Amino acid sequence: MAQWVKICSVGEAPKPNQVVEAEVDGIGVCLANINGELSAMDNWCPHRRGPLGQGWIEGEAVICPWHSWAFNTKTGKADYPEHEKVDVFPLRVEGEDVLIDVA
Ligand code: FES
Repeated sequence: MAQWVKICSVGEAPKPNQVVEAEVDGIGVCLANINGELSAMDNWCPHRRGPLGQGWIEGEAVICPWHSWAFNTKTGKADYPEHEKVDVFPLRVEGEDVLIDVA
């Protein structure tokens, strides 16, 4: 069952082609804006738990700031190594609130 929680307001969300770290219900979230479209994924890189929200955007991917693994913001899949992946949280904007489903 879905569990939607507010992660930030629209005004606090990252601007186009920026990425930030956030936390909601004790869950670290990497919040990214790709050309105006927000997405949310697990903040912790599966390599050595680098903070993805401190990384940067390249194309449709967030790049881990520690060793540059790249994770697609829609699928969570790494470009390399191919089998690696982070969880992607469903996200929606409701009025002035940005919500993610942490279920
Ligand atoms: S910790 Fe992310 S690439 Fe190494």
